[in-house]
Amino acid sequence: MLLILMSALLFKASAMKINSYGNRTAVYGEDARYRCSANDQSGVLQVTWQRFKDDALENLATYSKRFGLRVNTPYQGKIELTEESLNSTAITVKNVSWHDDGCYICSFNVYPYGSTEEQICVSVEGISQVDTGYIVISPLLKDSVEILFSCSATGKPAPTIEWDGSSKYTQSQTTIVSNSDNTFTSSQNITVRVPLAWDGHVDCLLNTGQRGQRRERIPYALSAGHKQQKGGLSEYVLGLSICAVVLLFCSIVGVVLIWKKKMSQYNKESVMNQRTFTPVTLIA
Ligand SMILES: *[C@@H]1O[C@H](CO)[C@@H](O)[C@H](O)[C@H]1NC(C)=O
Ligand SMILES: *[C@@H]1O[C@H](CO)[C@@H](O)[C@H](O)[C@H]1NC(C)=O
Ligand SMILES: *[C@@H]1O[C@H](CO)[C@@H](O)[C@H](O)[C@H]1NC(C)=O
Ligand SMILES: *[C@@H]1O[C@H](CO)[C@@H](O)[C@H](O)[C@H]1NC(C)=O
Repeated sequence: MLLILMSALLFKASAMKINSYGNRTAVYGEDARYRCSANDQSGVLQVTWQRFKDDALENLATYSKRFGLRVNTPYQGKIELTEESLNSTAITVKNVSWHDDGCYICSFNVYPYGSTEEQICVSVEGISQVDTGYIVISPLLKDSVEILFSCSATGKPAPTIEWDGSSKYTQSQTTIVSNSDNTFTSSQNITVRVPLAWDGHVDCLLNTGQRGQRRERIPYALSAGHKQQKGGLSEYVLGLSICAVVLLFCSIVGVVLIWKKKMSQYNKESVMNQRTFTPVTLIA
């Protein structure tokens, strides 16, 4: 009788079907959501999420009627378990980074007969870092100035770079460097000649039409450049005055200390003088 019951349960566990949902490609910096649902929850005591990565299995989170929702310590804040149910389970991976790729496994545990599981393998794409800037190449031209704008982005796959905002520019080749964490850094420069008083910007367009698409504005203003110089000068003055105040304070403290020492020495001397002189006066 028990045997029949056990094999019936075993059959049930193996007959369970799981459907999985969620993006196989997660975007760097965004949240990724995954969900599994089972067609039958009878006998399920616990639902777990694990991740298989670099040949190691990590336990992420569990749900059971008895203990409720539990996210393992290293993943708290990183992973959220959002469904309190034994036939359906969902996690959110917050703020996805390069470390979050791998295979996510949901399993429905029919204790003690085993579990039925489903895996969702995820790769992370997008852009993790952008650096932009400009330098003035030829400030000495009569009525125009030549500026080199640079844009570089790190991501996977190698980010694409395009430009917007200035119709006339000369463009350098894109250089692509591969990094040790399997990401790529793409860099590109453009040279723009603008009127001397130009006050504008150039936009660096990254991953157009792809994951992690973004527009990075590089503002330029000659007057801002001047202001910066002025700011530098006033900082210099501020620094100098702070130095002067500190020096003044130090010398006052020094003078006071020397004066105090002299005073105490003088006092000691006068005490000693009194002692040595008293007998003399007595004899006299
Ligand atoms: C999967 O990603 C695509 C774009 O890459 C997005 O339109 C879609 O909503 C995403 N689906 C889920 C379930 O996150
Ligand atoms: C899960 O079980 C509940 C009842 O416990 C039911 O209402 C729901 O439809 C089930 N969901 C699925 C996906 O089977
Ligand atoms: C997302 O993670 C990055 C590091 O990977 C961190 O610098 C950033 O502040 C995080 N953003 C949020 C909104 O938590
Ligand atoms: C862009 O310009 C910077 C600064 O002049 C230089 O260091 C870098 O090598 C240039 N990159 C490319 C791709 O030409």
